Amino acid sequence: MTNLQIAIDGPAGSGKSTAARQVAKELGYIYVDTGALYRAVALVALRQKIDCSDENLLARLAQTLDVDIRPQSDGNPAYFIKGEEVTDKLRSPEVNNIVSQVAKIPAVRTAVTQKLQAIGNLGGIVMDGRDIGTVVLPTAEVKVFLTADLATRVARRQQELLERGFDLPSDVVKEEVLKRDHEDSKRMLAPLKPASDAYILDTTKLTPEQVVQTIVDLVRQKQQQQLSS
Ligand code: DC
Repeated sequence: MTNLQIAIDGPAGSGKSTAARQVAKELGYIYVDTGALYRAVALVALRQKIDCSDENLLARLAQTLDVDIRPQSDGNPAYFIKGEEVTDKLRSPEVNNIVSQVAKIPAVRTAVTQKLQAIGNLGGIVMDGRDIGTVVLPTAEVKVFLTADLATRVARRQQELLERGFDLPSDVVKEEVLKRDHEDSKRMLAPLKPASDAYILDTTKLTPEQVVQTIVDLVRQKQQQQLSS
C-alpha cells in the first residue's frame, strides 16, 4: 500500500487528535500531534519566565528546542525535553493559556513548520493541527477538516482535561476554547481554515469510531485511485 500524507485540521475539541491517533493505528502510519511542538515551546517559555511578547527570545527557543517524540505501543506518542518526559505537562491549563500567543509568532511558526515538513516527507504519516492542509503539507493526498458545535467541543475538552487530572468547571473551559478559537482563526499567519480541497466533517453527532471510519475510507479510496492510475 502507498504511504500517504494525511492532514487533519480543526479547532480545539473537534476530535482531531483522537481521530488522527486511531486512523494512524489502523493504517500502520505514524501519528504526529503538531500542537505538541507549539506546546513544548510554550512550556519551556513558562519555565524560563520568557515574556510571551518577546518574539526574538521565543523564536530562538523554537529554533533550538529539541523535542524527542517517542512512539508508544498504545499509539500515544510520549514527548521528552532534555530527557524529561513532559507529555502531561504539555496539556496543562497554564500551557493552554499561552500557547496560542506563542503559536502566532511568525519565526516560531517557521521553525516548527520546518521540523514538521521534515517529518512529513517520510510519508506514511497522519498529522493533526491547524494549518497542516494549508501550509505544512499542502500536497497531502488526504485532507480532512473536522468541526463540531461549541457545546460539544467544550464538553470534550473538559473531559480531556479531567483525564489528565485537571478538574475545571465548564464555563472556564468554554472561555479557554473561545479564546483559542479567536486567536487561532484571527491570526495573520496560517490561520485556522480549511484547505480548499479539504473534506469537511462535522463530528458533533458522530461517535469517535464513525469519524475514524470516514477518514480511513477516504484514505482507502485515495490508495485505490493511486493503484489504478
Ligand atoms: O491542537 P492543540 O490544542 O494541541 O494546539 C495547541 C495550539 O497550537 C493551538 O492554540 C494552536 C497552535 N497550533 C497551530 O497554530 N498550528 C498547528 N499546526 C497546531 C497547533
